[in-house]
Amino acid sequence: MVPGQADHEAEVKMRLGGVFHAARALWAIGCPYTLAYLAPSYLDDQIQHYAKHHGATCVSKVGSIVGCPNVMLVREATEAGPQGYEYLLRDEHNADVDIEALTSALQEQNCSDVLVFPGGFDLRAALGAVASTSARVYLDANFSDPAFDQLSPLGRPLDVFILSTSSPLFLDHWGGDVSTFCRDVVGNYATSALLKENRGGSRFFPSSDASKLTRVPAQVQQIVHSVGVGDCYDAVFAHMRHKVSDRAALCFASLIAAEYASTTFPDDFKTAVQGVLSISSEEIETMRGVQLPWEDRPSYQIYMAAPDFDFVDTRPFDQLVRCLKYHNFSPRCPVREHGQIGKDADPSERQATHLADMRLLRQSQMLVAVMLYDDPGTLIEIGLAHERGIPVIVYDPYHRAENLMLTELPELVTSDLDEIIARVFTLAAEAPA
Ligand SMILES: Nc1ncnc2c1ncn2[C@@H]1O[C@H](COP(=O)(O)OP(=O)(O)OP(=O)(O)O)[C@@H](O)[C@H]1O
Ligand SMILES: [Mg+2]
Repeated sequence: MVPGQADHEAEVKMRLGGVFHAARALWAIGCPYTLAYLAPSYLDDQIQHYAKHHGATCVSKVGSIVGCPNVMLVREATEAGPQGYEYLLRDEHNADVDIEALTSALQEQNCSDVLVFPGGFDLRAALGAVASTSARVYLDANFSDPAFDQLSPLGRPLDVFILSTSSPLFLDHWGGDVSTFCRDVVGNYATSALLKENRGGSRFFPSSDASKLTRVPAQVQQIVHSVGVGDCYDAVFAHMRHKVSDRAALCFASLIAAEYASTTFPDDFKTAVQGVLSISSEEIETMRGVQLPWEDRPSYQIYMAAPDFDFVDTRPFDQLVRCLKYHNFSPRCPVREHGQIGKDADPSERQATHLADMRLLRQSQMLVAVMLYDDPGTLIEIGLAHERGIPVIVYDPYHRAENLMLTELPELVTSDLDEIIARVFTLAAEAPA
């Protein structure tokens, strides 16, 4: 066994999701907490046992889920691109909040902070119960609908309205517009707002005065999953604010979220968190990382070099384009934008298309090549971009890259989509504005 690493044979892997992502974070940072949950009854014993094992001082069932197994499938676990959440039998889902159980859990434990994850239960009823406490209330609205009158039973504004740039609420209701989101939320539904921007960091708006905003970088590293990292971030932020400045609490949350994404073994996560907590708040505030606001990303033109012709299986290329768009980058596809030119095409058309491609390359801040096969055009573009000082990344889904020039010249050659996306973020954040 490697010293300092848990024995994976004996250790139980992360099994339960939902509210357990936040719970594991609180356990790892040593914050006592009460877990109030809704679940189907077949999970009750496991939940009680697992929560007690992971530091819950009180575990209270506040509603039963019936009609569905309460299982979420995740297609893309690293969030390199669209996560593809699929809640099984979602139309059959039914859950009633047990107000008495929730009220007594809140009153008995006298919690300083309440963190709510809405979705699939009556938020009005739940907030009505929270109203009787004087706790700070955090609401992660990622899976909320835009019926904000549901917040009124709280009788006061939320302390922190939390949202992620991947949330349908951010994208559809606020059209991905950060200023509109802030203007609507801060001073209206909540006294402050937190926007989580995945590998691009996060922003905290403590008041409606936009100049008081705090930006915090993401600690981008290779990860094994990204499920629940945002919930982990919320819980750490809420707790650490009692100990350190808001900025330092956000920095701790960012680093601990990155640790959460780096393992699926809770004990390894907890060990890593002990290391993070030994960093002073002054030191953590100066840690560098990736800061790339959502609205700045479309201006990074990414030249997509690949033989994405209509007679080629372009699925890996299409997937990468989807991933980049998901993170609000601008992948530019010369073949699709300028047309596919056959060898019998008119010479003037061939020349015009070639010039359009070269113009696009000059305007681009980065080149991402996809090695679908050894296509000479792609290889020439890689060389050209490198010579012009444009960073080159190569996605090699079929492990074809063996040639010395091809493996050594680019910034990165990999068959791992998460690595590609992480490096795009890093390079774009470093690029001159
Ligand atoms: N791949 C990553 N590497 C490093 N840090 C990350 C990564 N993904 C997320 N984080 C950190 O976690 C924070 C929250 O992640 P994200 O913005 O995806 O929130 P979320 O969408 O609520 O989470 P989730 O996707 O788990 O629902 C980010 O602001 C960042 O600090
Ligand atoms: Mg996310």
